[in-house]
Amino acid sequence: MTQTPLNPGDSPLVREALSSVVSRETSATPTAVQAGDGSGAGDAGWPRPAKTRVIAVANQKGGVGKTTTSVNIAAALSMHGQRVLVVDLDPQGNASTALATEHRGDVPDVYQVLVDDLPMADIVKQVPEMPNLYCAPATIDLAGAEIELVSLVAREARLRRALAAYDEIELDYIIIDCPPSLGLLTVNALVAADEVMIPIQCEYYALEGLGQLLRNVDLIKAHLNPTLRLSTIVLTMYDGRTRLASQVAEEVRSHFGETVLNTVIPRSVRLSEAPSYGQSVMTYDPGSSGAMAYMDAAREIAYRATVA
Ligand SMILES: Nc1ncnc2c1ncn2[C@@H]1O[C@H](COP(=O)(O)OP(=O)(O)OP(=O)(O)O)[C@@H](O)[C@H]1O
Ligand SMILES: [Mg+2]
Repeated sequence: MTQTPLNPGDSPLVREALSSVVSRETSATPTAVQAGDGSGAGDAGWPRPAKTRVIAVANQKGGVGKTTTSVNIAAALSMHGQRVLVVDLDPQGNASTALATEHRGDVPDVYQVLVDDLPMADIVKQVPEMPNLYCAPATIDLAGAEIELVSLVAREARLRRALAAYDEIELDYIIIDCPPSLGLLTVNALVAADEVMIPIQCEYYALEGLGQLLRNVDLIKAHLNPTLRLSTIVLTMYDGRTRLASQVAEEVRSHFGETVLNTVIPRSVRLSEAPSYGQSVMTYDPGSSGAMAYMDAAREIAYRATVA
């Protein structure tokens, strides 16, 4: 197998997309971030999708990079003219922390949207210093939702309904950061989404449990959400010095082919430091290897949709 290209510019798919897509200028909202955003990427506006893309970032395995991927892909997209909402669907509230969005105490959160029918507009906050980026925070209350949802009407479709009713801002992307389980919260994400993105950590047990996740995706597709598709696999925490990482990457690519992004996310201390400053790595250290990789990954995602 050939060396995995680290730069999506090397990929024929992306090259083709780049040449065939006429980039729609971002509509001139006063909030749009233009070139020179410090992202290190020269291109300002990426093509906006024809309709909002709702992407659930899921893997019931803990610590594989779901939140890091959600937050940084969202930040990268928002820095290129996309209006992006991150829905924190994990009671740990890690995505809310990373996006400097208050999620302690009495803050209205996703729990109240799912269980008490609070409108999404009442909880969504703009992320500080990121004009195109929004966050629907999760407080620890959300931990109760797995149980409380069970007895509610349309328990699997609560998030879908709430998002459908949310038309405050013309969103290009809704990225849902799922908890490390396959319970009702993740089911709600998969019912609300058009696409599933699975981060896979490049280590020994990487593929364990993946079958179960894929079966769930198929079940939800068959019964609850026919338009759902596994659109993206992203390889995370890649350590180029180990043979194991490249073996895992190769195995994942041979299973999933084009679904796997060309860009792999390297291990980078900067990625793990950024959340404690309430920032994505895109602003915390835009020149770091982690920031550049997530920027490339986000670019692939933005351009892929237009060739699908
Ligand atoms: N590429 C990376 N390089 C270095 N550290 C990383 C990288 N990606 C994630 N991490 C760190 O690994 C830990 C787990 O990542 P993250 O929280 O994104 O995973 P997760 O799948 O969301 O976890 P959980 O299942 O608990 O929600 C975090 O401390 C994060 O900062
Ligand atoms: Mg997480």
